[in-house]
This record gives sequence, structure tokens and C-alpha cells, in this order.
Amino acid sequence: MENAKIISMDASRYAPDDILCLVNELNGGFPSKDISAKYVAPEIQFALVQLDMKKYAAFLDRLSIGDELKKEAYAVVDKIGSYSMNGGKRLFVGYNAERKVADRKSKEKQRGKYFYADGNGFSKINVDLPAEYTNRIVCADSLAALKELPDNCIDLIFTSPPYNFGLEYDAHADAMDWDQYFHSLFEIFRECIRVLKYGGRFAVNVQPLYSDYIPIHHMIGNFFIKEKLIWKSEILWEKNNYNCKMCSYGSWKSPSSPYMKYTWEYIEIYCKGDLKKAGSPENADITEEEFKSWVVAKWSIAPERHMKEYGHPAMFPEALAERVLKLFSFKGDAVLDPFNGAGTTTAVAQRLGRRYLGIDISEEYCATARKRIEDNRRTQVSLFD
Ligand SMILES: C[S@@+](CC[C@H](N)C(=O)[O-])C[C@H]1O[C@@H](n2cnc3c(N)ncnc32)[C@H](O)[C@@H]1O
Repeated sequence: MENAKIISMDASRYAPDDILCLVNELNGGFPSKDISAKYVAPEIQFALVQLDMKKYAAFLDRLSIGDELKKEAYAVVDKIGSYSMNGGKRLFVGYNAERKVADRKSKEKQRGKYFYADGNGFSKINVDLPAEYTNRIVCADSLAALKELPDNCIDLIFTSPPYNFGLEYDAHADAMDWDQYFHSLFEIFRECIRVLKYGGRFAVNVQPLYSDYIPIHHMIGNFFIKEKLIWKSEILWEKNNYNCKMCSYGSWKSPSSPYMKYTWEYIEIYCKGDLKKAGSPENADITEEEFKSWVVAKWSIAPERHMKEYGHPAMFPEALAERVLKLFSFKGDAVLDPFNGAGTTTAVAQRLGRRYLGIDISEEYCATARKRIEDNRRTQVSLFD
């Protein structure tokens, strides 16, 4: 078939009757403009244009053939990573025709990718996180604590700094003059970059202060770019929470000063030296379904609902940390949160088999972070009892 994506599946281990049944039923059961199949021993060749995967699964389920053949015939189509969706069907061909750029690779080369990170001077020599900082919650000012760590020892930093909104933290004043705020934040971030491995990732959850017109996420982005990190992605964390303000005083239903409403925060992801991270495939713990869903960079996750219980005013939910950790780190990696608060990052890192280091200036929050890890451990032990 013209204009179809052809994929082949080695069928040598299946009974010929089952293979022919699959091929014939598929050709009779689906329009050939969607999918067709032929048997060219020892392979089954599928010609794919578009397919409703639920219907395909139900079709396979009804066939009187061996389960292994059903599973493989589904998996071989499902694992195709490049497609778009239209009315519930996956489109395997033609979906990006209008976006085609002739000679794309040479144009990319001519432009130069992430030119702003050229000449970064980062050392490629990575070291292990020292044992005395492994799986620790440290109560300290991060600037001082991070100075104790060697260069290039952390695989992933995931953090949410104080946003300077004026929240009532236990041991941090949250309404500084903006110059002072960015100065202190960037001093700590510079140390974070130093301790990050070559190829390591720095993921920052941040919300701009809309009411003061301070685009904190852009300012952090500018800082990272000046420091020659590579911008990897921006995730929109859709919290689906609304507040009521709609306009500045005296400008209701007028273009004079509408007040835009935001129900999301950002996660900005930067890399040190390389977009690709070293790690063994057997240490990747993200499932196929999670991967397909989470690479779509808009994540709908409810805000943390137990902040009162944990005694912290500005936590992110475990579900957010779980996605960041599974998508951007391997099992066994060293994960740092320099503003660890009540320990969401470290609790999730421990649960997912990463090594962790959490730093917070508040003894009270550190105690909560340690308790969460103890609670995790107790649950893990009782699961194996
Ligand atoms: C937005 S909260 C992080 C909350 C955390 N993500 C959670 O889910 O629990 C920011 C944290 O930074 C801490 N902090 C502020 N300045 C700090 C500093 N210089 N060093 C270490 N921690 C600091 C505050 O105590 C606060 O807990």
C-alpha cells in the first residue's frame, strides 16, 4: 500500500494456521485504508495508516489464536513511537507533512543547536555522592551545605525554591527585596550547577508572582542560560485551581487592565553539558504507558492536599516528583533537593530507589522529611513481612 508505514514482525515461532487466521481476519475486519497485513514467511508485514488501538485490542481479543501471537501483534503496533491522534485513531503517516522542512538536518547544523551553551567549560569527570551525604536530610542553609560537596556528584536536582510571595515559612523570610531574593537564590543555584554531574538535570518548579508582574520563571531561565546550561524543556503543571480576581480596580469588562488568570505552574528543566544522561536501560523504571503520557509536557495534577498535616505552607504533590524522577533519572541516581521543605522530593526518591540528599533551613521541616522516609521504610518492610 502506498503511503503506509510498513512494519515487520518475526512470526517464525507461531503456528502457520494462527498466522493466516490473524492476517485474513485483520484484512477482512479493518478497511485497508487503515491497516492491512500480509504473511511473507517468516514475517507478518503490517501496512499501517491509522488505527483505533482500542478496537484493534478488542479485535485481537476475539480471535481464536494463541495469546502470545495476540500480544506480539498488539505490541509491535503499539511500540511505534511517532504518531499523532485524530478522532481516537493513531495516525501513522502523513501527520506532519505540512511541517516538513526540506533539508532539515543541514539547516539545523547551519543554525547551531543551543548556541548559548557553547564554551561552557564544564568538567566531564563525574564522581559519586560521598557516603556521608547519601540518603541524608540536612538541616542547614543550602549555600553553606552545598559548598561541602564535590563537583559533579548529583544526577538530578528537583526543587521548588521559595517564590518570595510572603508565605509564613518556619525559618525563612519570604518577602525580600527582589534584588536580594535573586542574589541569594542564584548564589545557591550556582552551587547546585557546580555539584551537578556532566549530563545531569536541574528541574525547577516555579510560579511567577503575577500580582507583582515578576516573571520569576523567565528570570531563572535567563540565569541558567547565562550559566551555559542547556534548556531541555518546560512542563506546564496544570493544577486546575482558580482564584477570583479578574481585573485591576476600575477596569471591569474593559481592555484597560484585565487581570489574567493562571491555573498552572511551570517546571523548567535544564541540563549541564549534555542533553543525554548516562544510565543503564535496566535502571529505567518508567512504564511504556507512563512514558507516552508524560512526554506530553502538560501535566494535570491536583495540588498537595495535606499541607496542614505536614505543617508546611508550600508543598508540591508526590505525583509531580514521581513524574520528574521517573522521566529524568534512573534507579540508583543521586537526587538533590536544596529547598527540600517537608521532604516530598526525598520521600519519593527513597520510594523509587534513588539515592537522596535533601537540604532545608528549617529543623521542623527536616524532622517531617525524616519522618516521611521512616514511614516509607516501615510500609516497605511490612509489605515484605
Ligand atoms: C517552596 S518550599 C519547598 C517545599 C517542598 N518542595 C515540599 O514539597 O515540601 C521552599 C523551602 O525552602 C526552604 N529554604 C529557604 N531558604 C533556604 C536556604 N537558604 N537553604 C535551605 N532551605 C531554604 C524553606 O524553609 C522552605 O521549606
